[in-house]
Amino acid sequence: MNRITLQGRVYQTVPGFEDHLKKELGTPKACWGSLFLTSGGGPVFWHQNCWLEPFRLEFDSIGEAASALREIQRNWAACLFTQFRRGRLIASKLPTISVRPRPFPWPIPEAPMGAWTLLDPHTMIASARCSSPFPGGFIEFEEDKLAPPSRAYLKLWEALVRLCRLPGPGERCLDAGASPGGWTWALARLGARVISVDRAPLEERIAAMSGVEYIRHDAFTLKPEDIGPLDWLFCDVVCYPPRLYKWIEKWLASGLCRNFVCTIKMQGGVDGGSADRETADFETPKRFAAIPDSTVVHLCYNKHELTWMKASP
Ligand SMILES: C[S@@+](CC[C@H](N)C(=O)[O-])C[C@H]1O[C@@H](n2cnc3c(N)ncnc32)[C@H](O)[C@@H]1O
Repeated sequence: MNRITLQGRVYQTVPGFEDHLKKELGTPKACWGSLFLTSGGGPVFWHQNCWLEPFRLEFDSIGEAASALREIQRNWAACLFTQFRRGRLIASKLPTISVRPRPFPWPIPEAPMGAWTLLDPHTMIASARCSSPFPGGFIEFEEDKLAPPSRAYLKLWEALVRLCRLPGPGERCLDAGASPGGWTWALARLGARVISVDRAPLEERIAAMSGVEYIRHDAFTLKPEDIGPLDWLFCDVVCYPPRLYKWIEKWLASGLCRNFVCTIKMQGGVDGGSADRETADFETPKRFAAIPDSTVVHLCYNKHELTWMKASP
């Protein structure tokens, strides 16, 4: 058996957004299915998972491969693009990883989640440390198909689970771009006080929830002093990323809010393509990521958008 540390990181693409990752990475050192090995460089946001300490393992038998992983730690998720049968046999010799839908809130287990793939019958690429705490970078929640007025609450749940932080009972939250009310519903259920701002109305039963106050307004023309101190600022407004950044800069400068979860809506393709298509904004997410104590990620429940999160230390 031979184990070699690989220099760099392995990025797993977001299905449907492979071009976005390629654009961020430039020319990778190697490409294996949905995985790209790169030597590093600038920030990379369009990935489902990043393998932080990749290594290459050459092995003789299925049992040898499985025990090499087991010796490192318990949790390993397969990310196969070839050698499916052999991969399943290796996986069957590893501790089971549950991928069933999770209730909310779901505390992320403390034990690290590794990832591995096979290049051929005797070569594995693996990493014990990954950017995502979820198996294969993927989480699914037990959905409430009746109460919330939209499925948008799922990305809020995912963001809060990743932050390991919840708005507590009585905490003051602003929900900008709140209509029809999925995020407001999720926050009010936690017992938070929610100021919901949108130019469109909230669903009536959401507006009537305890702790919810609705303001019909353009969120970006509301100044921090108009709203006052907040524990959390949430924003899911559909807008160009620089507009959101300018507004968030005002909130940061005001010092009136401690925690932030904002969707950065991306419009356009990677290179613009035809004359009527826009090119996606790859620069503003970098400015968000440079804000201290914050991170920009592509959540499993994000589509053509990223999420910026900042929690008070
Ligand atoms: C993706 S939807 C929000 C969905 C919501 N988070 C939920 O969970 O149901 C985006 C919302 O942004 C609102 N919006 C767009 N521009 C806005 C602005 N300048 N100020 C306030 N709301 C705005 C739209 O009316 C729309 O309701």
